[in-house]
Amino acid sequence: MNVTVSLGERSYDVVLESGARHHLAALIAARAPRAKTVAIVTSPELAEQPWFNVTSGLAQHLVTVPEGEGAKTLTWLGALLEELAELELSRDDVIVAVGGGAITDVAGFAAAVYLRGVAIVHVPTTLVGQVDAAIGGKTAVNLRAGKNLAGAFHQPIGVLCDFDTLVTLPERERLGGLGEVAKCWLLEGGFAAELAGVSLHDLIEMSVKFKAAVVGADEFEGGKRALLNYGHTLAHALEKVSLARSIDELRHGEAVAIGLAFAVRLAHALGRVDDSEIERHDEVLSALGLSTKVPAHCPTSSLLEAMAHDKKAHHDLTFVLAGAEGFEVVPDVDPAVVQEVLERFRGEQ
Ligand SMILES: NC(=O)c1ccc[n+]([C@@H]2O[C@H](COP(=O)([O-])OP(=O)(O)OC[C@H]3O[C@@H](n4cnc5c(N)ncnc54)[C@H](O)[C@@H]3O)[C@@H](O)[C@H]2O)c1
Ligand SMILES: [Zn+2]
Repeated sequence: MNVTVSLGERSYDVVLESGARHHLAALIAARAPRAKTVAIVTSPELAEQPWFNVTSGLAQHLVTVPEGEGAKTLTWLGALLEELAELELSRDDVIVAVGGGAITDVAGFAAAVYLRGVAIVHVPTTLVGQVDAAIGGKTAVNLRAGKNLAGAFHQPIGVLCDFDTLVTLPERERLGGLGEVAKCWLLEGGFAAELAGVSLHDLIEMSVKFKAAVVGADEFEGGKRALLNYGHTLAHALEKVSLARSIDELRHGEAVAIGLAFAVRLAHALGRVDDSEIERHDEVLSALGLSTKVPAHCPTSSLLEAMAHDKKAHHDLTFVLAGAEGFEVVPDVDPAVVQEVLERFRGEQ
């Protein structure tokens, strides 16, 4: 199945199927017909996976960066750019990112700035990559002060979501991805009962369609796209506090699941929704096998402090919350209420 991200002349398709990676040569021939060289950016570990037979039909070079978040640094961005220059990649050529969100983020940023912008194809190999990171054109690396603080918008010319690559994905990573899937399901108004008989591939398709529609309506996050941050205010704080303590206990999507359960309780405390909305959230999260327990190593005071400094929050407490009019961005939430709800939520667990 193909899902189109409609952005005028920057529109592109997301191909969702087993074997989608084998569309690479045809995609490059159609979207970058003058390309002669392809740089495939991945990690050494991923290059060893059984599904790593990615062929572009052109002269191709493997460029490797470290596993996971280790690749999202200015140092590795610099090394990547130098390597692209050594390969003499031209403006007609193409970068192909094969990996999870960390690799598509750093390779996407390199593609945005190398020669002021070259074409990139994403081949996301994690659930987070397929349903979220590879779609929408946001790219970034981390700075010492926090995650994703340097980046650019740069849309790919195509995304190949190959279900075959997910076969080797560790369970932890699958669960993390389900946190983002749960977010889409909840934003769409879905119930747990409707999840019965829905396959992982169906969930990926649903999430991709949802994200493509949101990005198509609001590419640069001026409005509707901000709703994709549902559950993320607390999630970012959980990640930041864990990182500061050098504890890598939570995958991003696991933090999102906790953030979703918290956000609906906050909406309830603010009189925006009734008990049934909390129930809907808890049931969906539990049906997807997601835990909503706030880790003990994250004190409430540190989480509040981190939430107030969220880069998207302009130094007040901003949340995406459900309400009578649907979901919306709510700025300036009273810190006392946030603290009380967070402590009560922890008390429930
Ligand atoms: N740009 C965006 O819009 C956006 C959206 C969401 C997340 N992100 C970013 O994505 C990153 C998280 O991405 P992620 O969750 O994909 O994690 P990741 O990229 O860190 O990958 C997680 C681990 O899984 C391994 N892996 C990847 N694919 C595999 C496979 N098929 N089989 C076996 N192992 C595999 C990786 O090597 C890595 O060790 C974060 O940096 C986050 O900021 C970006
Ligand atoms: Zn997210």
